[in-house]
Amino acid sequence: MSDDRNLTRTHSHVATRDRSLILGQKGAVIWLTGLSGSGKSTLAYALERRLIGLGKLTFALDGDNVRMGLCKDLGFKPEDRNENIRRIGEVASLFAEAGLLVLTSFISPYRADRIAAKATSKGDFIEVYLDVSVDVCEKRDPKGLYKKARAGEIANFTGVSAPYEEPASPDVRVNTDELTVEQCVDKIVDHLRERGQFDVSSLRAEAAQEEAERAQS
Ligand code: ADX
Repeated sequence: MSDDRNLTRTHSHVATRDRSLILGQKGAVIWLTGLSGSGKSTLAYALERRLIGLGKLTFALDGDNVRMGLCKDLGFKPEDRNENIRRIGEVASLFAEAGLLVLTSFISPYRADRIAAKATSKGDFIEVYLDVSVDVCEKRDPKGLYKKARAGEIANFTGVSAPYEEPASPDVRVNTDELTVEQCVDKIVDHLRERGQFDVSSLRAEAAQEEAERAQS
């Protein structure tokens, strides 16, 4: 495929399945979405530790950190958030294609952006909604940002002066106000198991079948 910038897509000789078989897991994007202060980073890092403990190769991409590097040119206007999530969607998809379980923690307030990130993702995409009200997040206010937003010191602050569009049908919904961090982690890990994210037996059978067919031809 080529385009008007004279680019042509190239193709690796290694399939995602080959990497999954080495790692014993199916790569996926685990997309955490929710308000600032809903607990995305806390949950992502706890989940990362749990998955690594289970021998699963995992990497967490965090909103504030990514905004200090890859997305340091972006602010919080709608079009900047669109571009932020577009870049993260692309990066997360590459990590998942490399076989990792990628945990992303971004507010990602716009439904259309999350749908686009899912469409970009070549592997599994698991949307996790941290379903916590603005009131609760504002009471926690771990970074003092709600206070600043109410005082008019931060413009376009999600939940105060900018919208958050709830996911219509998230794969996992966790209320960090009612559950402990470890209970939230349990819920997500259970979901990953149920989806067969850690079971590569069908991929192994598929690879063996192809190998046998190649040997015959
Ligand atoms: S997103 O909307 O584009 O997904 P992202 O998750 O990357 O946002 O960044 C959110 C973090 O930026 C918040 O946790 C907070 O620390 C900081 N922040 C600074 N200004 C704002 C704002 N106007 N709205 C929301 N978060 C903000």
